[in-house]
Amino acid sequence: MSISENKVASYAIIGFGKIGRALAKAFARNGIEVSVATTRDPESFASDAAAIGPTIIPKKLAEAVKADVIFLAVRFESHLDVAKALPTWRGKTIVDVTNAYGVPPEKLGGQPSARFVAQAFSGGKLVKGFNHLPAAVLDQNPAVHGGRRVVFLASDDDGAAAEIGAFAQKLGFSPINLGGLSEGGLLVQARGNSWGQLIFEDLVKFD
Ligand SMILES: NC(=O)c1ccc[n+]([C@@H]2O[C@H](COP(=O)([O-])OP(=O)(O)OC[C@H]3O[C@@H](n4cnc5c(N)ncnc54)[C@H](OP(=O)(O)O)[C@@H]3O)[C@@H](O)[C@H]2O)c1
Repeated sequence: MSISENKVASYAIIGFGKIGRALAKAFARNGIEVSVATTRDPESFASDAAAIGPTIIPKKLAEAVKADVIFLAVRFESHLDVAKALPTWRGKTIVDVTNAYGVPPEKLGGQPSARFVAQAFSGGKLVKGFNHLPAAVLDQNPAVHGGRRVVFLASDDDGAAAEIGAFAQKLGFSPINLGGLSEGGLLVQARGNSWGQLIFEDLVKFD
C-alpha cells in the first residue's frame, strides 16, 4: 500500500541496539508510535522499550515488518536476514541507517552499499539516511543551538526521499536531500575502510 497524503503511515525500527534506541527516542519525544523488533522475543526488551516511552511498541520481526516505513538499524551484515522476513517489500519505504564500514567493496559487486541493500529489499523504495551521526548524538534532542540538527537523505526515488524528509522534520531534524544513491548519496556511504565524506567520524568513534 502506498502512503497517500490522507493515510497516516505506520513505522517500525528493526534493530534495537545503539542506533535503534536513539531513533526510538526521537519517536518517543514526538509522541509517534513505532514498532521495534530484533531477532529476540519482544518480551526480552519490553522494559527497555517502556523506559523510552509508551509509543515504543516491542513486536516480533514478522509483525513489525508490516509497517509502511521500516528503519533498518541492524549491522550491515544482518540486513540480508531482515530482508528475508517478507517475500516482497512492495509499497514499503526502507530507511537504510546502516554503515557498511569495513565491508570489502568487491563483496558488494563494487556497488554503493545502499544500492546493495536496496536490491535485498526487492520492490521497496530505499532511502539512505540518519546514518551519519554517532548514536550518542542521534540520541539527543535535535533542537540544538537555536537550530535543528541535520540529517542527510539520499534515494533513487524522489517521492520516498520527500516522504522521509517530511518525516525527519516531524521528528525535529532538518533534512538535506543529497540526490541519488550513486550520486550525492555517496557522500554518506562508507566504502571499504573509508567513511563517506559527510559521516562525522571525528565526532565520536563509531563502533
Ligand atoms: N553505533 C553508531 O554510532 C552508529 C552510527 C551510525 C550508523 N550506525 C549503523 O547502524 C547499524 C546499527 O548499529 P548499532 O550500533 O545500533 O548496532 P548494535 O548496537 O549491535 O545493534 C544491532 C541491533 O540489531 C539487532 N539485530 C541483529 N540481527 C538482526 C536481525 N537479523 N533481525 C532483526 N534485528 C537484528 C540486534 O539485536 P539481536 O542481536 O538481539 O537480535 C540489535 O538490537 C549498523 O549498521 C551501524 O553501522 C551505527
